[in-house]
Amino acid sequence: MPLADFPRHPLLFGPSPVHPLDRLSDHLGGARIWAKREDCNSGLAYGGNKTRKLEYLVPDALARGADTLVTIGGIQSNHTRQVAAVAARLGLKAVLVQESWVDWPDAVNDKVGNILLSRVMGAEVRLVDAGFGIGAKDSWHRALADVEAGGGTPYAIPAGASDHPLGGLGFANWAYEVERQERELGVFFDTIVVCSVTGSTQAGMIAGFAGQDRPRRILGIDASATIDETHAQVARIARATAELIGLGRDVRDDEITVLAGWAGDLYGIPVESTLDAIRLTGRLEGMIIDPVYEGKSMAGLIDLVRGGDIPPTSNVLYAHLGGQPALNAYSGVFR
Ligand SMILES: Cc1ncc(COP(=O)(O)O)c(C=O)c1O
Repeated sequence: MPLADFPRHPLLFGPSPVHPLDRLSDHLGGARIWAKREDCNSGLAYGGNKTRKLEYLVPDALARGADTLVTIGGIQSNHTRQVAAVAARLGLKAVLVQESWVDWPDAVNDKVGNILLSRVMGAEVRLVDAGFGIGAKDSWHRALADVEAGGGTPYAIPAGASDHPLGGLGFANWAYEVERQERELGVFFDTIVVCSVTGSTQAGMIAGFAGQDRPRRILGIDASATIDETHAQVARIARATAELIGLGRDVRDDEITVLAGWAGDLYGIPVESTLDAIRLTGRLEGMIIDPVYEGKSMAGLIDLVRGGDIPPTSNVLYAHLGGQPALNAYSGVFR
């Protein structure tokens, strides 16, 4: 059925802001770069891309009579913090399984940033010793069973709200929002740059843009350092979402681009290009990006513009997906 017919629980301020990054564009000397700001899309605990995805999961959770949102992520997960905020806003409980996805030495890693915010908002935070992985985990199933055993009704939200039948809808909606903003601004973004890890952000965009008249490039920048898994997940969710919203044709392989090269060797560990991108964006634009996700996608954008893969005639839209609270856990690298 058409996207507009799916129930959506508003959690955002409205359309997220779009603005040019003039000093960054001038500095790189190529394409004109703009940003669309999911990092300030909502009043719920700083918002971010998951808040947008959750607009479509919340009606399902409420319809099923859930009283507890159960989800999973790394210790500095932005996603679990956004689930905690949405639960608070709805008067529900939240159980957050926080795994040690990143071997990061900062002494306050499990005390500041996202995990601190989740605790402030009253979520039950469960620290679990398990490595990075975007699939379903035992600890998550245990958390769901525990809620049931306690007489509650859990609603299961997978990592990044991605591997969920409705997970791609939020960013399919983003694609239509971009089209409306382009009309207002009198600009066409021929290239979108977006960070990919659990996949439904880019997948939703692909499904949404696929239904529009003018083709454009949607360049996913992998930040998981497990590119094959990420590509497969983006492809699967893009196709499922396209079918769900009645695209009426298959999503082609050439519509799915996830690029490796900026993740480093490990999820969650910034490399030199990540830190350079964070400093450059901060110093030229006052725009803050994080060391786990957006620092890596911005490093990709910088290289693609500098190297001419994104030509000087392009209008590029950088999807800023949020994530700044995690910076607090990485203070050591900016001393
Ligand atoms: C700030 C930020 N950017 C990018 C991503 C990647 O989005 P996705 O997991 O939907 O691929 C995430 C979450 O994983 C995130 O929190």
